[in-house]
Amino acid sequence: MEINHQGKTFVVSGATSGIGLATTQALVDQGAFVIGIGRSEERCWAVKKQVQAQARHTDGQVMMLVADLSLQSKIRALRPEIENLLRDYGRQGLDGLVNNAGTFTYWLSLTPEGFEMQWAVNTLAPFLLSTVLLPLLMQIPSARIVTVSSDSHFQGRMHWDDLQLRRHYNGLQAYENTKLANVLFTQAFNRLMGEQATVKAFAADPGLVKTEIGFKGTPALVRWIWARRRAGGTLPEVPARNIAYLLTEPSLQTSDQPYWKDCKPKKASKRALDIQAAERLWAELEKMCGLA
Ligand SMILES: NC(=O)c1ccc[n+]([C@@H]2O[C@H](COP(=O)([O-])OP(=O)(O)OC[C@H]3O[C@@H](n4cnc5c(N)ncnc54)[C@H](OP(=O)(O)O)[C@@H]3O)[C@@H](O)[C@H]2O)c1
Repeated sequence: MEINHQGKTFVVSGATSGIGLATTQALVDQGAFVIGIGRSEERCWAVKKQVQAQARHTDGQVMMLVADLSLQSKIRALRPEIENLLRDYGRQGLDGLVNNAGTFTYWLSLTPEGFEMQWAVNTLAPFLLSTVLLPLLMQIPSARIVTVSSDSHFQGRMHWDDLQLRRHYNGLQAYENTKLANVLFTQAFNRLMGEQATVKAFAADPGLVKTEIGFKGTPALVRWIWARRRAGGTLPEVPARNIAYLLTEPSLQTSDQPYWKDCKPKKASKRALDIQAAERLWAELEKMCGLA
């Protein structure tokens, strides 16, 4: 399915590899102006050069911003940087935000701001980035927030007295919980925005994808398992198509389906569809981000 994103402006987090890079390339190939976010200046430059060189649409353009999304201070600083880019390139607001950046950490590690690393990058960052960029998304008549979740959310559960699993850490369980939190965040966002909202949120299920996620800072055993597991996965271009679809397909503006795979709605877990849990999580995230 060929989509035209000419004239549209998107932010993609984690644009330096895997699904985020493929999504950035797909959007630029469809004529969009994409602001990618990465944590390494070197990789950001390399991606900008690569995506621009391969662009299949003359209007497609990519800009890269450097930010460590495990830190709330860096997420907040992105808003003026993005506003500057929009102004400099004559863009009116944001048509969409893709909360894609994600990490898997086997051992408990804390960010300098004191949050468990996976919770900070996979859960807090999508929430805070969406909140910080909401005024720019609201400048467009119909805008989207797509958060990259995972089928592993089916194994997740919210431990309300220890959301970051700091007392009994298990890296895989912590990851699964963050992916459940992505769907709950999506649900809470749509609920809070109401039926007439111009900004609509969706959670994307990429399936199993051949990326480097399991190789980054993980022990040898995890790298061994991921090398075998990902062999059965798809190329990142496959989930990128679903994300691009969720960003602009007009018929989805009235959809009440939160969870999508391969451009089709998919049933999320019972725990992910629990609206009370979604609202409770939203309140917890507000507190953790100092927004309550
Ligand atoms: N691969 C799969 O099978 C699969 C399945 C289900 C869901 N997912 C989800 O898909 C999303 C993308 O993952 P992927 O598989 O494409 O992995 P990936 O290739 O490792 O991409 C992850 C992206 O997030 C960035 N990132 C990580 N920590 C960051 C931080 N602190 N600040 C800023 N950026 C950060 C990475 O930057 P660097 O380039 O600097 O590392 C990279 O650009 C994640 O949310 C993941 O949970 C993946």
